[in-house]
Amino acid sequence: MAFRRALKRLLQEFPNQNSRSYATEGRQLVTMIPGDGIGPEISQAVKDIFSAAGAPVDWEDVDVTPVKGPDGNFRLPPKIFESMDRTKVGLKGPLATPIGKGHQSLNLALRKAFSLYANVRPCKSIEGYKTAYSDVDLVTIRENTEGEYSGIEHVIVDGVVQSIKKITEEASMRVAEYAFSYARDNNRDTVTAVHKANIMKMTDGLFLKCCRHVAEQNKDIKFKEMYLDTVCLNMVQDPTQFDVLVMPNLYGDILSDLCAGLIGGLGVTPSGNIGQDGAIFESVHGTAPDIAGEDKANPTALLLSAVMMLRYMGLGQYARRIETSCFDVIREGRFLTGDLGGSSKCSEFTGEICRKVQEIE
Ligand code: NAI
Repeated sequence: MAFRRALKRLLQEFPNQNSRSYATEGRQLVTMIPGDGIGPEISQAVKDIFSAAGAPVDWEDVDVTPVKGPDGNFRLPPKIFESMDRTKVGLKGPLATPIGKGHQSLNLALRKAFSLYANVRPCKSIEGYKTAYSDVDLVTIRENTEGEYSGIEHVIVDGVVQSIKKITEEASMRVAEYAFSYARDNNRDTVTAVHKANIMKMTDGLFLKCCRHVAEQNKDIKFKEMYLDTVCLNMVQDPTQFDVLVMPNLYGDILSDLCAGLIGGLGVTPSGNIGQDGAIFESVHGTAPDIAGEDKANPTALLLSAVMMLRYMGLGQYARRIETSCFDVIREGRFLTGDLGGSSKCSEFTGEICRKVQEIE
């Protein structure tokens, strides 16, 4: 994978004390952003399960509560940059976006700060958790830095506003390359580029051209191109026909939530944000203030995000054991949290996964 190669090169060029000592001990340091609301509870659940599995990971907890800069605006604290510089990998719980002037979305700030250019969301049906669909097993890969979310908006005249959709060859190429690498690394057959190049001939046209170019260089992976509206229609009719989908930012934002709905919603959907200078894996649900502190949260989404993180770090054997234990506990149905239709506490669900993970070879 291009990013891993770049990261390896970077670490060789700039070895620091920390990465040397962890490499020697065979353990890896990860930045943990527990987050707000239920964040601390589900983060602790992940740590407990990693310990039970014997995963060679140590955690550096970082609070990303914004600090006020000299311009009066709030921004990410320096600690997160120091920590990510050391670890290059983060796991993040949900963050409450403060309401009021001068605050920006912390999630967006993190994506921007670490150039997290590809948002990856695997959506796989969970046995034992019934939804309208079964056998869903697809992955959405969303360009995460530009498109309609470039933040270029202005008033032309009173009553007329304009938003610029920016698409660049550089960003389109790197997300297309990532999609094909991901497909290969994860034994997947097909990458489908999702677009509206029939209407947005220049912007989506460029995105599609880049995907076609990358497809030419990766002929072992099948390539398809489909209009966004056709994908939506076909997705609700039969989602099992899809494999890896790559698309510009706005389409990815919407389609990835739609796909999460196919397998049971945001509470069970993991995600990863892959970047040039690091990767941050995160649950995509919010802080659930209505149940925070009550030991009722479902840690599955953060746990499955941590499983993605383990695979990214080359610790696939631990990923497999933890994932299997989590799916086994859900399938058996004896320790489900409220959102999955059960009445168990977060700690009981977690405890059962810890017990199972120790039984699996
Ligand atoms: P939410 O996802 O926090 O809650 C919606 C509903 O889902 C609630 O009933 C909640 O109890 C439930 N829920 C969510 N996650 C759950 C879990 N793991 N286990 C069990 N139940 C769960 O969405 P809401 O209420 O719109 O947002 C609350 C706060 O979260 C806001 O401040 C928002 O800005 C923030 N937020 C942060 C996100 C992130 O950091 N990625 C994403 C979405 C919202």
